[in-house]
Amino acid sequence: MTRVNKTTLARATASVKRSRWLLPGVALVVVACGAVLAASAPRTSPLAPIDYYEAKCARCHGSYGATMPKTIAELSDKELEHVVKQMASGPAQAPLSGAKLSAEVAYNRSLTDPKPFIAVTTATSKLLSGEVTPGSKVSLKCGARSLNASVNGHRWRLVPPKGCDLTKATLSARTSRGTTAIAIARQAWSHSGD
Ligand code: HEC
Repeated sequence: MTRVNKTTLARATASVKRSRWLLPGVALVVVACGAVLAASAPRTSPLAPIDYYEAKCARCHGSYGATMPKTIAELSDKELEHVVKQMASGPAQAPLSGAKLSAEVAYNRSLTDPKPFIAVTTATSKLLSGEVTPGSKVSLKCGARSLNASVNGHRWRLVPPKGCDLTKATLSARTSRGTTAIAIARQAWSHSGD
């Protein structure tokens, strides 16, 4: 769809001699395909899961999960999702469902993983930002280029380099305990259990 091969071009050029209308037609198709490509922006999380956790869960489980029982590592994905959903609508008084619940479950999963959590909450050509386990270094790999984000507490941000195709970029978070990387075209957060 995106490629206009030589035969198509040759035919188009040949028929331009017959019709003045065909070339604009071909150009239109090419422009339309370009628009579809440009529209497939990186994914973003509908919830900032660390902000949510700090606001709604930290008073009982400690800041950044400091006092969360380590036994949550033994819960299956389904069980963890069930507990987080119950906690959100019960003691936290801030119900979660759908993708918001999934993002929060992923963050809870990361609490017992040595590798840092990372999420994207904003993705435009001018700004890429999100959340990360505090103390991480965050970088974006775009083709051969690599760019460090500025990290402030559990928030990171960076201005994507010009010409960077965000749909092909990889975002990574690194601490001395491990590295997490996500392909931002497919994943808005890490630790999603699949
Ligand atoms: C009012 C206090 C309170 C709040 C607020 C609260 N929790 Fe809990 N949570 C508990 C208690 C008490 C338990 C059960 C005892 C335990 O395992 O620590 C528990 C258990 C859990 C467990 C299961 C632990 C295990 O090993 O089975 C998870 C996961 C959890 N909470 C996540 C959350 C999340 C996420 C939030 C915010 C949406 C939250 N909690 C808000 C008090 C709270």
